[in-house]
Amino acid sequence: MMVKPSCASLSIQGIDPARLPRHVAIIMDGNGRWAQGRGFERIYGHRRGKDSVKAIVEMSREIGIQYLSLYAFSEENWGRPAAEVKALMRLLKRYLTTELDRMMKNDVRLLVIGNVKKLPADVQKALKVSVETTRRNKGLTVTLALSYSAREEIAAAVRTIAKQVERGELVPEEISEATIAQSLGTAGIPDPDLLIRTSGEVRLSNFLLWQVAYTEIYITETLWPDFREAEFLEALRQFQARERRFGRVVDGRADQARLRAAN
Ligand code: IPE
Ligand code: IPE
Ligand code: MG
Repeated sequence: MMVKPSCASLSIQGIDPARLPRHVAIIMDGNGRWAQGRGFERIYGHRRGKDSVKAIVEMSREIGIQYLSLYAFSEENWGRPAAEVKALMRLLKRYLTTELDRMMKNDVRLLVIGNVKKLPADVQKALKVSVETTRRNKGLTVTLALSYSAREEIAAAVRTIAKQVERGELVPEEISEATIAQSLGTAGIPDPDLLIRTSGEVRLSNFLLWQVAYTEIYITETLWPDFREAEFLEALRQFQARERRFGRVVDGRADQARLRAAN
């Protein structure tokens, strides 16, 4: 059964509800190994991974996280065997259609980043319906990264900015970090405070390269289909035990609070 932690029970779990990460990003890795380790086809792991997605979305909503970004399919993942790609697309479409009601009930807004035009037409359609239908929801923003490459996202931002310069709307001297951030797929979404990667791989695999400049990183050996509520709480506990310095010198809790407010 789902645990539904209220603020009080979060405190019991050793988590301060006032200091939750505003934005959690997750590289959901290890589905294939989870299945293969049990003698199943890789795709069975993706199916079980979908249940982890549901659990973590629901839990994020319950505990009051505002933004959750999920790396579901990378640009590089197109290079996998056609049958696996096809099965992943089918799962994605099913997830979108079966979860829409729950997203509405739970006040979840869905966004997508990545080269969506490369996805099959029926998946694009399902995405469009979910994004449109949930666009006024305010409880939790879930951003799915699909056909996503951070380097391509940055290259696209450079193209956008170059066109603004070409049209005379912007002079190169005015290009700031904010100009770039506003031209990325994640425009309007705060940078992640916490990045989780499952399956023990210690790399970013082309995910949110610009946005994670000062993100705290939590890496666990747990494979994504096994990543559920208990470990999510552990990641939050470890996040809260860290001291974020943002390159500065920090002296005590008051400074921590000021730094958090400034970033
Ligand atoms: C993550 O699991 C899901 C996707 C990348 C789509 P993997 O499929 O990468 O599983 P492993 O890493 O091979 O075990
Ligand atoms: C990263 O996992 C992409 C997603 C989780 C969607 P991969 O399994 O594709 O990454 P690598 O190949 O281990 O770097
Ligand atoms: Mg992998």
